[in-house]
Amino acid sequence: MSGKAPRGTQDILPGASAAWTWVESRLREGLLRYGYREIRTPVFEHTDLFRRGVGESTDIVQKEMYTFPDRKGRSLTLRPEGTAPVARAFVEHKLYAGGRPVKLFYLGPMFRYERPQAGRYRQHHQVGAELLGTAAPTADFEIIALLVDLLSGAGLDGLAVQVNSVGDARCRPAFSGELRAYLLERVDALCPDCRRRLELNPLRVLDCKVPGCREVARDIPSIQDHLCPDCRAHQEEVLGLLRDSGIAFRVDDRLVRGLDYYTRTVFEVQHGGLGAQNAVGGGGRYDRLIEDVGGPATPGVGFSSGIERILLALETEGAVLPGDPPPQVALVVAGEDPARRAAHVLARRLRRRFAAEVEFDPRSVGAQMRAANRTGVPVVVVVGDEEIASGKWTVKDMRTGHQSTVPDAELEAHLARLAGRGDADADTDARKDR
Ligand code: HAM
Repeated sequence: MSGKAPRGTQDILPGASAAWTWVESRLREGLLRYGYREIRTPVFEHTDLFRRGVGESTDIVQKEMYTFPDRKGRSLTLRPEGTAPVARAFVEHKLYAGGRPVKLFYLGPMFRYERPQAGRYRQHHQVGAELLGTAAPTADFEIIALLVDLLSGAGLDGLAVQVNSVGDARCRPAFSGELRAYLLERVDALCPDCRRRLELNPLRVLDCKVPGCREVARDIPSIQDHLCPDCRAHQEEVLGLLRDSGIAFRVDDRLVRGLDYYTRTVFEVQHGGLGAQNAVGGGGRYDRLIEDVGGPATPGVGFSSGIERILLALETEGAVLPGDPPPQVALVVAGEDPARRAAHVLARRLRRRFAAEVEFDPRSVGAQMRAANRTGVPVVVVVGDEEIASGKWTVKDMRTGHQSTVPDAELEAHLARLAGRGDADADTDARKDR
């Protein structure tokens, strides 16, 4: 036994988990405001779904999937991404039958066998949204705007939006052919992966990071010059909407993204603080995917974004995210049984309304008070023989040091005044210390 989590995975420990919960709830709020509803799909699927959905030419399918036979020999794969599973569920449950469009979101772990580095993990977590059933450019705009709004709603500045079009069934084949011919003349300069890509999807050479391929890619014909009139009009409409709403973007004709299902719009949002793995989110339109996984012709567009990268980017901006809130009440046990037992019974009662902590082991009242003080708890209830005999609790306001004696029946009301009922006054915004 190695005693270590598998390479490329991370434990999210108490202390860090509160930041995750905070970001996730911010994302959920934003998604609900845009009218997206949550879908939860399994973390594993039939391998074939990703082969057909994500595509044979992609790095994901060629070398990054966690694929294994189950006990009956069926090939299963831990999901490397969320769009193909959503497409599968959309078809399986005939979600198209309930009227269009269908707006879905998901949050959860994804698995890719990649070389781990800062911002790149073998298990990472994504938030994603998919808008199915409309081919309108306004849908592409909504998805890009949603991603930008979610990221800035989580507190991120410094976002750069890149947009491109990869064409459609009408204009892409001609461009791919021209590109293939161009690349074949320079095939010796290409890396082995790109030589393979040349056959399946030559556009992928455009975003290869190997220096030789980048050199070749520099002078490659631009897809922007090869879009058919419909694709061009679609793109102009999307870009116009981005301009109208003040979302800064750059058209990057080298942006093709690593998944085969895209048609027309592709986009990525980058963050300068992230280093080599600078894509904090990305997505695009996929008008053939639903058919490719066996459904009726249904256009779609979506994005996903890595939660780890959102958190890393926030960190580089100096954001201080909310931690776990302190308890509202601490029970201090004065003496042994029956006080100890009474304190635990009382703690359970108070926990219907308050976040309450109680001592397990025999410790002096002084030590318990000091420990309570360190947690920042606003109120302490002392439970000792005297209190049990009198039916009145000793309640100490930790901020003023004021101590009072409160009849049992009035305890909750008294605590509510001192501790507050909920977290209404808790700091719910990310704070930035610069
Ligand atoms: P993707 O670009 O492969 O797209 O991944 C989306 C985001 O997930 C990336 O921008 C990045 O933030 C994060 N991410 C990806 N791989 C890793 C990794 N190994 N470690 C940490 N973070 C990672 C998709 O997955 C598409 N399904 C997006 C989409 C949705 N297209 C249409 N709808």
